[in-house]
Amino acid sequence: MKKKRLVTSALPYVNNIPHLGNLLQVLSADVFARYCRLNGYETLYICGTDEYGTATETRALEERVTPKELCDRYHRIHADIYDWFNIQFDNFGRTSTEKQTEITQGLFLKLEEAGYINEKTIEQLYSEKSSMFLADRYVRGTCPVCGYEEARGDQCENCGKLLDPTDLIDPRSGIDGSVPVLKKTKHLYIDLPGILPKLEQWIGEASVRGFWARNAVQMTRSWIRDGLKERCITRDLSWGIPVPKDGFRNKVFYVWFDAPIGYISITANYTDEWEDWWKNPEEVELFQFIGKDNIPFHTVVFPSTLLGSGENWTMLHHMSSSEYLNYESGKFSKSKGIGVFGSDAKETGIPADVWRFYILYNRPEKSDGIFTWKDFQEKVNSELIGNLGNLVNRTLSFVHRFYDGKIPEGGSDSAFWEKVKEMEGEITKHFDRAELRDAFRKIFALADMGNKFFQAGEPWKTRTSEPEAAARLLRDLTYLVRDLGILLSPFIPAAEVIGKWLRTGKLSWEDLGSLTGIADIEKPEILFKRLEDKEIKTFKERFAGSQKEREAKEQVENHILKVGNTEIHVSGEPVRTNKVRDGEVS
Ligand code: 2FM
Ligand code: ZN
Repeated sequence: MKKKRLVTSALPYVNNIPHLGNLLQVLSADVFARYCRLNGYETLYICGTDEYGTATETRALEERVTPKELCDRYHRIHADIYDWFNIQFDNFGRTSTEKQTEITQGLFLKLEEAGYINEKTIEQLYSEKSSMFLADRYVRGTCPVCGYEEARGDQCENCGKLLDPTDLIDPRSGIDGSVPVLKKTKHLYIDLPGILPKLEQWIGEASVRGFWARNAVQMTRSWIRDGLKERCITRDLSWGIPVPKDGFRNKVFYVWFDAPIGYISITANYTDEWEDWWKNPEEVELFQFIGKDNIPFHTVVFPSTLLGSGENWTMLHHMSSSEYLNYESGKFSKSKGIGVFGSDAKETGIPADVWRFYILYNRPEKSDGIFTWKDFQEKVNSELIGNLGNLVNRTLSFVHRFYDGKIPEGGSDSAFWEKVKEMEGEITKHFDRAELRDAFRKIFALADMGNKFFQAGEPWKTRTSEPEAAARLLRDLTYLVRDLGILLSPFIPAAEVIGKWLRTGKLSWEDLGSLTGIADIEKPEILFKRLEDKEIKTFKERFAGSQKEREAKEQVENHILKVGNTEIHVSGEPVRTNKVRDGEVS
C-alpha cells in the first residue's frame, strides 16, 4: 500500500514580503506535492504564515496597528503572492488561531505531565530605554563561535549555531540600540537532555529511512555532539499563546516552540480528520521543505516536543533542507530589501512559470545557488525555449501541418523507448527522494535527446523519401512530448497545456512510456516568449541595490518627497502612506 504523503514548507514569518529565496521552499514543496498527487499518492500540502513573536509585535507598534491587523494584512499579501506563483496548497493557514492555542497548550501539558518541563529563575537582558525584556531575536552582538558581529540572540545567521542572547559578546538591543542590562525573571524550559535518548534513537533510524539531505544530517549530528541544553520556551510578550500554568499566565510561548506546531493546527483548521495525518505514523510519511537555517528546529527541537509528549505523532520522514539562493553578487535580504521580491516578480510581466522554471532549475540543493539576471535570461532562452519549447513546437507543428493533425500510424523505435523509459525511471527516483533539481535537469536532458532524435531523423526529407520512418519518428516524438508534459507539470503547471493540445484528457504518472491515447491534436501555440537583452537590462537596473535605494530613485524620478510615512508629490498632493515595505523587519 502507498503511504499517504504529508508535505509542508517552512511557515514564512508574516511581517514581510517574501523574496525569491523564501519562495524557494514554498515552490519546492509545491513541486513535490504536485508530483505525489500525479503519481497516485494521497497528498496534503500544508503551509501558512508564522505570526506570533517579537518581530510582529514590534512591527505592529511601528505601524500603529494591532498585531492582529498587521497579520491580517500580510497574510493576504503572502497568500496573493503564492497564488500568483500557482502554489497549490491544500491549506495556506496561519498560526494565530484557536486551534493553534489548543494544540500548543495540549502539547505543553503533556510534556509537563511527562516531567520534561522545568522552571528556572534567570537573569535576562532588559532594555531600560524601552522598559522591556528583550526576546532573543532582538538582542544583537558578536557570535562567540565565528565572530560574526551581527549575530542574533537566538541564532547566528553566519555559522548557524543556536545561541542564548547572553552568549553574545557586546550585546545590544536590536530595537533601540541601547546596551541592555541583566534582570531577574522566571521562565519555563523544555528538558531536551532528558528527551535525548528517545531523540537519538529516532534520529538514527529516521535520518536513514527518510534519506535526509546531507546538510540536515551533518547539522543535526553536530548539534547533538555539541551537547543539548534545556531550551527556554516562554517569553515576556503579549502577542503569543498564553502559558497555561500558574505563575506564568502573563507570559506567552516562544514563537519557535509554537511555530512548527502550526503545521498541525493549520491541518486541523482544514480538516476535522487531522489526526489521520498527524497521529498516524503507520500510514503517513511527512516530507518537510525548509532552508538550512531552520534545520535544528525541525530535526531536534520540534521532534523533541513530539517525542516528549509521549503521544503517537507522525514524525519527520524526509528532510529537504536547501542551501541558500544568493542574488547577483550578494545575498537576498529581507531586512536590507535586497533582491527580487514576490511582488517584484509579478510586476515584471514575466509569467510565473518562467520564474518557477529558473528558481527550480537553479535550486540550491547541494550547494548555494545564485540568481543573476544574465543567467536567468540565458537559461530561459536556451533550455526552456531553445530546448524544450523547440521540441514541443517543432514536433506538434509538424504533425499538425503534414499529417493533418492526426497522429501518424506505425510502429515505434524500441531502442529509443528503452532509453526514454530508463531516463523516466531515474527521474521518478529523483522525485521520490525530493531531488528536484536532478529530476528537473534530467527532464531537460530527455528533451535534448528528443531534439537530437528529430534532427537525426530529418523528417522534412524522409516524409517523402521514407514515409514510414518519418511517421514512426513523429509518432514517437509526439508521445515523448506527452511524457514531457507530465514530467514537467509539477515544475511548470503551464505544461499541462500539452495534454490539452494532444486531447488526452487528464494525465498521470501511469501514462508515462505508454504508446496509446493520442488520436488527433490541436494546433500548438508558443509556450514561452524569449527574454530580450533590453528587458533584462532594464530589470537588472530596476532591481539593483536595496529597496530603500530603489524607492529613493523612484521618488526622485517622479518628483516625490517623503515626509515620515507619507509621500507627497511636489505639487503638494499626498500620493501614498504606509507603504508596506517601509521599515521591514527580517
Ligand atoms: O524562518 C522562518 O521564516 C520561520 N518563520 C520558519 C518557521 S518554520 C515552522 F517551524 F513553522
Ligand atoms: Zn556564528
